[in-house]
Amino acid sequence: MYKYKVSILGTGFIGLCSAACFAEKDIMVLASTHNEKKAKMINEGKAPFYEADLQEMMDDIKVNKTELLQCLTYPVKAVLETDISMITQGTPMREDRSIDLGYIESTAKEIGEALKQKDKYHLVVVRSTVVPGTSRNLVGKTITEVSGKEPGKDFGLCMQPEFLAEGRSIEDTLRPDRIVIGGFDDKSGEMLKEFYEYFYGDHLENCPILRMNLESAELVKYGNNCLLSTKISYANEFANFAELVPNVDISQVMKGVGLDYRINKRFLRAGVGFGGSCFHKDVNAIKAWSKSKGYTSRLLEAVLGINDDQAIHIVDIAEELAGKLAGKKVSLLGLAFKPGTDDMREAASIRVVEELRKRGVTDIIGYDPKANETAEVELGDKIKYAATIDEVLQDSECALLVTEWDEFKDLKPADFKRHMKSPNLVDGRRLYNYDEFNSAISFRAMGQIDLN
Ligand code: UDX
Repeated sequence: MYKYKVSILGTGFIGLCSAACFAEKDIMVLASTHNEKKAKMINEGKAPFYEADLQEMMDDIKVNKTELLQCLTYPVKAVLETDISMITQGTPMREDRSIDLGYIESTAKEIGEALKQKDKYHLVVVRSTVVPGTSRNLVGKTITEVSGKEPGKDFGLCMQPEFLAEGRSIEDTLRPDRIVIGGFDDKSGEMLKEFYEYFYGDHLENCPILRMNLESAELVKYGNNCLLSTKISYANEFANFAELVPNVDISQVMKGVGLDYRINKRFLRAGVGFGGSCFHKDVNAIKAWSKSKGYTSRLLEAVLGINDDQAIHIVDIAEELAGKLAGKKVSLLGLAFKPGTDDMREAASIRVVEELRKRGVTDIIGYDPKANETAEVELGDKIKYAATIDEVLQDSECALLVTEWDEFKDLKPADFKRHMKSPNLVDGRRLYNYDEFNSAISFRAMGQIDLN
């Protein structure tokens, strides 16, 4: 009845957004998670986490196409009742900062269990970010060991990295700029290509499908995230250069650099550094992987070092501006790793808080429009949490802008003057007009200094 039946094993950002987008285009999807509460929510048409446009899409599916998206807690059944299975499990960072492939391995075993009972050819697609060799040597071999089936003959194997950014997952799923397909063999790659030709239709006119082998596709994903992280650290290195000369503005410098068509302007915003679920995890994972193979990456070591040092640097700037901060009240504007999310994973605010506490600052208060609750899970009582902007600034002696939420954009120097005991402000995201703020309050911005 349906041209395609797909199982999606893992219901995080990639899994659930793909599942919803596929179902919207009349592909039958059986999602699977071991979390019963999550499965129940999905089956009731409720997104278990916030992501722009996802709930609206799930509402529509629930009303108009309810049979097209179901969530099971039994992955073997999901695989058995479909023709293509996509692995979208998380690959978290271990204590030693290498990749944890535990969920990938257990999912491969479950697929193996299913394929043991199935005679028809089945396509397995790894969508999770995994170090080179994982799809072939862990996923493929585990399925074979458990099922006795052979890749290339009984089942196909592909690796298709995803490039979704939080807050844009649906948009990025529906309108990618390219699709990368790594195939164990030609048949596997061809089958996935046909699936995407069906799913994307006309969009493919502007979106090339790149075919390669499994390991190359695995490395593309790291190539992407490492280059984006490198661009940010590069901008931050230049922001630090810019502070060595009076009146140089890093935003203008990077605009000038980014207008070169060979470079492009994106991911050159300097500031307090990157965070999020991917950049630290992926840069560390590929670094640890290459080291395990005998190659030590100096570039990626520097990318992480420069990034994390920006949290120390913003506190240095704050002390240059306000004097020693120990004993003073310090305010953090924004806690989430970027605006538009409540995600605190690897957020710069965490490193800033660590640095402030190292310097003996105990009176720290933070405010985030969405992430106060998640921040409390992460930071506990290391800081206090304000319910409004007024409250976070009240009687403070130094404010640090850490996340560039829209509601902070509207603040004027007078707002800082009105609420703070002494209006010292450090702009860690280049949100404010430098001249306006510099002439009105005690102000510094990362990547610009006025020595006059
Ligand atoms: C990123 C990648 O963009 C995405 O392709 C990948 O699949 C997952 O990782 P995400 O972590 O959701 O996505 O957020 P992104 O918008 O890329 O921002 C990451 C971090 O970099 C944020 O902390 C942001 O503040 C910071 N950043 C971004 C900068 O500091 N400067 C910039 O110019 C851009």
